[in-house]
Amino acid sequence: MVMSGSSLMRIEEVVGAAPNSWFQAYLPPTTERIAALVQRAADAGFGTLVVTVDVAVRGSTEHYERAHFHSPLQPGLRLLWEGLSHPSWSLGTFGRTIATTGIPHFENSDSEKRIPVIARNVVREFSGRAHLAWDAVQRIREQWKGKLILKGILHPQDARMAKDIGMDGIILSNHGGRQLDGAISPMRVLPTVRSAVGDFPVMIDSGFRRGTDVIKALALGADFVLVGRPFNYAATIGGHAGVIKASQLLKKEIDSALGMLGVTAPDQLSPSHVTVAQDTFARFQD
Ligand SMILES: Cc1cc2nc3c(=O)[nH]c(=O)nc-3n(C[C@H](O)[C@H](O)[C@H](O)COP(=O)(O)O)c2cc1C
Repeated sequence: MVMSGSSLMRIEEVVGAAPNSWFQAYLPPTTERIAALVQRAADAGFGTLVVTVDVAVRGSTEHYERAHFHSPLQPGLRLLWEGLSHPSWSLGTFGRTIATTGIPHFENSDSEKRIPVIARNVVREFSGRAHLAWDAVQRIREQWKGKLILKGILHPQDARMAKDIGMDGIILSNHGGRQLDGAISPMRVLPTVRSAVGDFPVMIDSGFRRGTDVIKALALGADFVLVGRPFNYAATIGGHAGVIKASQLLKKEIDSALGMLGVTAPDQLSPSHVTVAQDTFARFQD
């Protein structure tokens, strides 16, 4: 389980309850604040730090507009109507949160600063990182003694750079296609990345929905597949039990697809189990 850097629960609380969790950081804008956040994650007891590098500036927000989602939260008639027409969420989730912990804050974007979700400067707090480059990652590598993973890699040369500067692994991701419009699918670059880095942990996310999706990635060289939104949807509909059910569904699909392919364990998968549509990978040369 990778805990998001834009989460509303304090990392200390979560790692206390689930010590094997990984922490994903969005980097603060200055060297000092980055170092302080990294130190906080170390003090909290995390063994693995994931640094997301694909949102240096604010991405496309058209999907927010379409869904009438605003950050910071904008009180208004529409929000009022949404609240009134979803009473169990308003009382059970929103009301309960306000009553027990007050207005939610982004608790983990910095070492100390807590940013309320209704703060006017909330956008600025999560953007304006365009000046950060590989040297910022190198500094984190020097400071962080645990495992260090880069998330948001989409190019074989970046993958090799990550390996060369001492990362412990990478996550190929286009952030679910929610940031850079037209960004390539991580699955398309997976084979070239795998041959660029050789024996080096390569994980992947973005759009994995079925067991067979997972199997295709493993066959093409991924070591691990991460799933995001399906568990959000499951939690929205069925809470904790919904998430358990979603992971059971995925597991069942993976097990039965492996069986139908005639293999007994995921590590027996190889590119020979997948037929790649012609020319799919040809245009993305290292
Ligand atoms: C609502 C939402 C919030 C997200 N927040 C973060 C985040 O805080 N940090 C991060 O690294 N990725 C974040 N992501 C991207 C996911 O980690 C993941 O890369 C992406 O959703 C693709 O996986 P999926 O298709 O299985 O959802 C977020 C995605 C969504 C939909």
